[in-house]
Amino acid sequence: MKIIFVTGKGGVGKSTVAAALAFGQAQAKKTLLVELGSRSFYRDFLGLPQVVYQPQKTPWGFDISLWSGEECLKEYAKHLLKIESLYRIFFENKVTKSLIQAAPGLPELAMMGKITSGPPRNIGPRLPYELMIIDGLSTGHFLPLVQAPKALADVVSFGPMGEQSRSIDRVLHDAHHVKYVLVTLPEELPLKEGLEFETKLSAFLGWKPTWVINKRIQFADTEVKGVNSLQRIDNHQTQSLQKFIQADQALQLPFIFSHQIQEILGGLAPKLGSICES
Ligand SMILES: Nc1ncnc2c1ncn2[C@@H]1O[C@H](COP(=O)(O)OP(=O)(O)OP(=O)(O)O)[C@@H](O)[C@H]1O
Ligand SMILES: [Mg+2]
Repeated sequence: MKIIFVTGKGGVGKSTVAAALAFGQAQAKKTLLVELGSRSFYRDFLGLPQVVYQPQKTPWGFDISLWSGEECLKEYAKHLLKIESLYRIFFENKVTKSLIQAAPGLPELAMMGKITSGPPRNIGPRLPYELMIIDGLSTGHFLPLVQAPKALADVVSFGPMGEQSRSIDRVLHDAHHVKYVLVTLPEELPLKEGLEFETKLSAFLGWKPTWVINKRIQFADTEVKGVNSLQRIDNHQTQSLQKFIQADQALQLPFIFSHQIQEILGGLAPKLGSICES
């Protein structure tokens, strides 16, 4: 089981890149695209009847799920407590409910527990996927998410909670199982912010995420006759990229001039193949 987290600033194209990755890998690997939270973006974006906790099929060969912290925690508790009535006594009461909502990092821990529940941890109900792609929250929320297991493990040294947190954290630091993709735009501010975020994430991981520069507008000279504004954007993007990153430091995705989901995903997927190769 491989896990790919896709993160980046708000609106840069995280969800589109995550879906394009799933689209590109679905023929070769049993793939699950996961969105985190309680409201689905992909339902409308992909035109699906519903996106819920349990994986649903999509017409593009990959499956899709929506995981909230609360539901992940419930599932884990059911698995642990086994007996439904015991689970209800514990979870469906006011005290526990408010405790869960107030406990810092618990929803994040539960989501990370669910995401890393396959090999090598093998905890909870088995998910029959070879690849899991996580539309992984924007950069501001992403660090608290990946750091939640470590934070808890540092506080809770003993018992099953501490042990679970440590094993989740070990998987998140295992480059054989997990990859991190940082999406950004070819403009100065997003690139600068991307570098700042990379510093924080690599301080935690010990290695750097894969960069994806999205919405790159590139036109050959012959194509741009009479389209000066696009030529200007192309030049501006080229200069910004030269200023902030090495040419080979990032994958570049073209701006797709289409509303057709098939054309967007199909146009981006081939450029993302190398992320899943190593
Ligand atoms: N390469 C691209 N070419 C053209 N349009 C794109 C491209 N990538 C993303 N878009 C469009 O940009 C918009 C924002 O993309 P998306 O929703 O994937 O961003 P996001 O980072 O997930 O946003 P949020 O932070 O709100 O979750 C969408 O309308 C999407 O269709
Ligand atoms: Mg999104």
